Amino acid sequence: MELSVYSTWCFLTAVAFATSLASKLNIPRLRLSYKDLVATNRTFIFSGLDGDLELSAMFLDEYHDRLFLGGKDVLYSLRLDHTHLDAKEIHWPLPGNREDCISKGKEPETECANFVRLLHPFNRTHLLACGTGAFQPVCALVYVGHRGEHVFSLERSSVENGRGRCPHDPKLPFASTFTGGELYTGLTADFLGRDSVILRSLGHRSPMRTETDQKILDEDVFLLRTKDEKNPEIYAIFSTISNVFQGYAVCVYNMAHIREAFNGPFAHKEGPDYQWGPYEGRVPYPRPGVPGRMFGSTLEFPDAVLQFARSHPLMWRVVYPTQRQPLLLRTSTPYRLTHITVDRTLAEDGPYDVMFIGTDIGTILKVIALRSGNSITSEEITLEELQVFKVPTPITFMEISVKRQSLFVGSSAGVAQVPLHRCSMYGKACAECCLARDPYCAWDGHTCTRYVPNAKRRHRRQDIRHGNPALQCKNQNQSVEDVDTVEVRVVYGTENNSTFLECVPRSPQATVTWHMQRDEHLEEVELDERVVKTDEGLLFRRVLQLDEGVYVCRSREHGFSQTLSRVWLDVLQGDTLADLLSQDHKHKAWSPCPSHTGSVNRTPSKGWFKDVLQLIGPSNLPQVEQYCERVWCNEKLRRKHKNMLDKYRQAQDVARKTRVSKNVGERSRMPRDTHAVE
Ligand SMILES: *[C@@H]1O[C@H](CO)[C@@H](O)[C@H](O)[C@H]1NC(C)=O
Ligand SMILES: *[C@@H]1O[C@H](CO)[C@@H](O)[C@H](O)[C@H]1NC(C)=O
Ligand SMILES: *[C@@H]1O[C@H](CO)[C@@H](O)[C@H](O)[C@H]1NC(C)=O
Ligand SMILES: *[C@@H]1O[C@H](CO)[C@@H](O)[C@H](O)[C@H]1NC(C)=O
Ligand SMILES: *[C@@H]1O[C@H](CO)[C@@H](O)[C@H](O)[C@H]1NC(C)=O
Repeated sequence: MELSVYSTWCFLTAVAFATSLASKLNIPRLRLSYKDLVATNRTFIFSGLDGDLELSAMFLDEYHDRLFLGGKDVLYSLRLDHTHLDAKEIHWPLPGNREDCISKGKEPETECANFVRLLHPFNRTHLLACGTGAFQPVCALVYVGHRGEHVFSLERSSVENGRGRCPHDPKLPFASTFTGGELYTGLTADFLGRDSVILRSLGHRSPMRTETDQKILDEDVFLLRTKDEKNPEIYAIFSTISNVFQGYAVCVYNMAHIREAFNGPFAHKEGPDYQWGPYEGRVPYPRPGVPGRMFGSTLEFPDAVLQFARSHPLMWRVVYPTQRQPLLLRTSTPYRLTHITVDRTLAEDGPYDVMFIGTDIGTILKVIALRSGNSITSEEITLEELQVFKVPTPITFMEISVKRQSLFVGSSAGVAQVPLHRCSMYGKACAECCLARDPYCAWDGHTCTRYVPNAKRRHRRQDIRHGNPALQCKNQNQSVEDVDTVEVRVVYGTENNSTFLECVPRSPQATVTWHMQRDEHLEEVELDERVVKTDEGLLFRRVLQLDEGVYVCRSREHGFSQTLSRVWLDVLQGDTLADLLSQDHKHKAWSPCPSHTGSVNRTPSKGWFKDVLQLIGPSNLPQVEQYCERVWCNEKLRRKHKNMLDKYRQAQDVARKTRVSKNVGERSRMPRDTHAVE
C-alpha cells in the first residue's frame, strides 16, 4: 500500500481544518536563540575532531550509552555517560574507489568519498556500518565492545560489497531498519539511481526485493512504542505539493488500523478510464504482503501472484489518523518541517506525547497536542522554539535519549545535544512555571523544576490543560509594591527627537502595559500619536521634557501580572554631538562601560550603545567608541562610577526605608547631581 492513500486523507482534513484554525496562534511561548541556548548550556555541538564532520548517519545506542556518527570517510563514537565525550574516530576512506569514481565523471568532493549512511546494532558487541564507498557501496562490522568499555575499531576482514544495503549516491533518499537479524532497506540500488527498491537482506531468509516509487522513500515517520508492543503509534509529517496552499500537517496513526487496511480488500481498477473500487475477485495464494510458507523467496512466487501484486499496489480501505484529524498544522510558515520525534512523559494528570519537530532552518519546535474529551479539535501548544544551530541549516537527524533526557539533533553543522527540558528557563515565579504548560516541569514551592512522578510534594503545582496560575499559584502575583525590586536602566532622549524604551515579554502570549512611576504608585502611560506602544516597546515620536521620569513595563498573561523592566528616561535638552563628546558634559558620568560589572543596566553593552547610537547616528560610530574609551572606560573613572552607584543604591535604600523622599524622579537624580565627574 502506498503512503499516498493516507497522506491524501491527512491533507484533505488539514485543508478543511485550516480555515477554522487559522485564527489560532501557534506562536511558541518561549523562543530561545542560539545565543540563549549557549549561555544556559542548553546546546552542546560536536562537529568532528577536526571540525569538518559532514554528518550522513547517526545512531543513538542507549544500551552502550553512546552516540555513533557517520560522515565523509569517517565514523565516530561518543560517550554519553561522561561530561567529556571522549570521541573515538575511525577513518574509512577508499582511495581505490575514489579514483574510479572520479574517472567516471563524478564530483570528487561531494560524490567520490565514502559517505557512511547506515549504522545499525548488529549484536551486543558489533555495529553494522555501510557507506557509499565512492559510488561502490561497502559494508563492514565495527567492534564497539561491551557495555561500559569504550573501544571502536573496524573489522577489516568483514568489509564487503554493500550493494542493495546502501545507495551509491550520498544525496539520494534512503531508509533502513534492522530487526530480528534482518536488514530492510529502501533505496535506489544502482549506479544510475533509477532502480528504486525495498530489499531484505542478511538473516537466514533469502533476500527479498520489491520495486517501489522513489517518492515513498522520502526517511519522515516516527514510531512511538507503547505498552502494546505490537501496536505502536506512527507519527508522520505531510506536506502540500500545491504552491497555493503551503502547509504541513502531523498526523498520528495506529498500527492496528494499518494492519486492518492490509487485511482488507485491494483497490482495483478495471481499466484506465474506470474509477477505483474494492477488488472482489479471488486473491491468489500467497496473498501479497503475507509470507507464504511454501516459498523461500519472492523469486519462487507463481507468476499469477507477481502479476496481481503489480496490478494492485493499493489497498482499498483508507487508514484514518486517530481522531480523524491532523494533530498539528502549520500553514504559511517561513520554514519547512523536516523531522519528528516523540517522547511520552508522565505528568501529574497522565501521560503526554511531546513532539520535537525539526525544521530546515536549524530550529526545533517542542509541541504538545491536547486531545480534550469529546471535542473534535485538539489544541496544539508550542512550548518552545529552540534555535539549535547558529546558522539556518536543515535538520537531518533527530533522536531522543530517554536515559539522558536529551535530544540529539544532526545537521550539516554537526550534532547538538539538547536537554529535553530546562524548567528554570520559564522564569522564577510559580505563575510563569504554570503558564509554560510544559509536562516535564512543575512548581515545587520554590522553583520551576523537573516533574518527578510518584514523588509526593505538597507544594507541587502543574496545570498543562489550562495553564491557569490564578488557581495554581494563589498570592503569587507580583504586586505593584514589588516594582522597586526591578533595577532601573537609563535611556536618553533628545528633546523634540524620537526615543524608544524596549520591553519584550518572554511569552508572546502576554500583553504589555506601560506605566509611569509617580510617588509610590503607577499611572498608566497615556498613548496618542506622539507616544506609541509597539510590540517591542514604547516609542516616543517626539520626546518632550515632561516625559522625563521612571517608566515601568508590566506584562499580563492569564491573569498573572509582573514587572518586566524599569527605565529612567532622561531627556537631554539641546544637546548636540559636539556637546556630548566634550569632556565636561554633565551627563557622561551616567553611561556605564560595556565591561562594567556593577552597572545599573543588566545588559549594559546593548542598552547604552543603542542609546548613544540613537542620539548621534551610526555614522559617528568611531567617535562613540573614542568617547567611550576616553570618558567611561578608563580604570579611574570606572572606580568612580562604582562608588557613585554604591552611593545611589544606598540612597535608594534609605529613601525606601524611611519613605522620606516621595519623588522618584528626584531620587534617581541624586548621584548625578552630587557626584559629577570632573
Ligand atoms: C555551563 O557549563 C559550564 C561548564 O560545565 C559551567 O561552568 C557554567 O556554570 C554553566 N552555566 C550555566 C548557566 O549553567
Ligand atoms: C557479533 O558478531 C560478530 C561477527 O559475527 C562476532 O564475531 C561476535 O562474536 C558477535 N558478538 C556477540 C556478542 O555475539
Ligand atoms: C493578579 O492580580 C490581578 C489584578 O490585580 C487579578 O485580577 C488576578 O486574579 C491576580 N492573579 C493571581 C494569580 O493572583
Ligand atoms: C523643541 O520644540 C519646541 C517647539 O517646537 C521648541 O520651543 C524648543 O526650543 C525645541 N527644543 C529643542 C531643544 O530644540
Ligand atoms: C534626531 O535623532 C537622529 C538619530 O536618531 C539624528 O540623526 C538627528 O540629528 C536628531 N535630531 C535632532 C534635532 O537632534
